[in-house]
Amino acid sequence: MKRGSDRQGPAESGAAKRVALVQGASRGIGLALVSELLAQGVYSRVYATCREPERAFELAELARSNHALEIMTLDVTAETTLEAAAQTVQSGSGRVDLLINCAGVLHDTTGIQPEKRLADVAAGAMTRAFQVNALGALLVAREFEALLKRGTDARFAAISARVGSIGDNRKGGWYAYRASKAALNMLIRTLAIEWARLPRPVSCFALHPGTVQTDLSLPFRKHLPEGQAVPAEQAAKRLLGTLHGLAPAQSGGFFAYDGTVIEW
Ligand SMILES: NC(=O)c1ccc[n+]([C@@H]2O[C@H](COP(=O)([O-])OP(=O)(O)OC[C@H]3O[C@@H](n4cnc5c(N)ncnc54)[C@H](OP(=O)(O)O)[C@@H]3O)[C@@H](O)[C@H]2O)c1
Repeated sequence: MKRGSDRQGPAESGAAKRVALVQGASRGIGLALVSELLAQGVYSRVYATCREPERAFELAELARSNHALEIMTLDVTAETTLEAAAQTVQSGSGRVDLLINCAGVLHDTTGIQPEKRLADVAAGAMTRAFQVNALGALLVAREFEALLKRGTDARFAAISARVGSIGDNRKGGWYAYRASKAALNMLIRTLAIEWARLPRPVSCFALHPGTVQTDLSLPFRKHLPEGQAVPAEQAAKRLLGTLHGLAPAQSGGFFAYDGTVIEW
């Protein structure tokens, strides 16, 4: 969407209605966040974005029974889809109060696997991790900035990961994922400083969801203690609880699902 745009949208001309958007909602934590946001009923419009809506069957099922839900195409590596999605929200709601950037990649069908050792590092996989996990969130922030600026107590949350903490890195490995999440944390921190200076500040947070039972964690859950990996529904509830409990003064911080601060 045209950056810096402050055209008045439908939501501002009428009664204030809260609007949420979840980026990366086809499955896993993003899908559970959409489901929980709809169940809570606080948002009159929930936008859910995914790369291929025609293959996001569970999201489509949710949309059939919830008219508050609108599904949009968005691939963080394709900037035209970002612009088109922001334009759709501009025309439909004219604002965003809560935006959760969820998409992330640790392994995928193109052969990306977390590296065990230096010899496993591949330029393509490293680039892809940075593109999706770090740059993706920043481009989403840039494209939806004008809409967030028109939100009330507007919040932008990026789903990060504790393994992106430099201070907490005790096991090594996972070069691309760790480094891309550390980069994401820096981008959020930097963005928080800029957005705190706005006439109507927008808060932003990096959040660790805990270990969650999703496709992303599936290959790595075998040796975890019973109960450590929680269902996505539980993760979504606790993430939203924490996010709503954070104060604007805490903007720019890195928090776990229970609200505790994670060292950088
Ligand atoms: N699960 C955990 O234990 C855990 C722990 C710490 C942090 N996290 C973080 O939590 C977030 C969600 O992870 P998850 O566990 O729910 O993973 P998941 O089930 O593997 O889901 C990943 C999501 O990211 C989307 N995605 C991937 N590349 C994308 C792109 N280029 N553009 C837009 N969307 C894209 C996927 O869409 P498609 O369906 O189109 O592939 C999918 O919706 C990630 O940022 C992850 O790093 C997860």
